[in-house]
Amino acid sequence: MIPQKLIQHCNERIAPYPCEGFVYGKGSASPVLMFVGEAPGETEIHNGIPFSGRAGQYFNGFLQELELTRDDVYVTSTVRSRPYKWGQPKGREKRKYNRTPNQGEIAAHAPILDAEIECLQPRMIVPMGRTAYQRLVGGAPRMAEVTGHLVTSPVLRLDDWETRSYTWAPATYPLFPIYHPAAALYKRSLEADISDHLATLKQHLMS
Ligand code: URA
Repeated sequence: MIPQKLIQHCNERIAPYPCEGFVYGKGSASPVLMFVGEAPGETEIHNGIPFSGRAGQYFNGFLQELELTRDDVYVTSTVRSRPYKWGQPKGREKRKYNRTPNQGEIAAHAPILDAEIECLQPRMIVPMGRTAYQRLVGGAPRMAEVTGHLVTSPVLRLDDWETRSYTWAPATYPLFPIYHPAAALYKRSLEADISDHLATLKQHLMS
C-alpha cells in the first residue's frame, strides 16, 4: 500500500538515530478505525506485528471491549522503528530499553503516516497517547482533557523535513483520542477512565 521507495526514503532519514527494525501498519484497507500508537517495542520488531507485546495484550482488550477484530481496523504508529537507549541495571547485562521517539525521529517517519491516512481515508482516527496526539493535532494538552472526546479536525502532515514543520492537511476526520494501552500498565488508576472512553467510542461507532 505504501510505496517501498517512500519507506526507504524515510528509513534513510531515521538511520542516524538510535532506532532499530521496521514494523508495517496492519489491518483493513477500509478501516472502521485507524489506531495510531507511538513506536514499536522489542517484541514488535522481532515479529513484525504492531501491538503484540505487553501493551498489545491491553490493546487486544480494547478491541474486545469495542467488539472489533484486527481485520476491522488498521493499526499503525507515529514512528515505525524502535527508538532505544542503552541501560545496565546493577549486576545485570547491558541492554536496550524502549524510549519515547524524539522530534527528529517523528519527522523522519511522518510521511509514512501521512500516506497511510491519505490512502486509507479511515472513518475515524484514534490517536493513542500523547506522542500520536501531538503528531496529529499538535499542542501540548493534558491527556486527561482530550481523551474520551470526539472531535472533528484536520490532521497535521509534514510540510518541511529540514525545519520539521507541519501543516494541516485539507481533509477533516472524526478523531477520538484515548490513552496509550501501555499507560494502564504503569498507572492502574487509569483503567476506569479507559473503560469509560472505550464505551463512549463504541456508542459513537454504533450511532
Ligand atoms: N507501542 C506502540 O505504539 N506500538 C506498538 O506496536 C507497540 C507498542
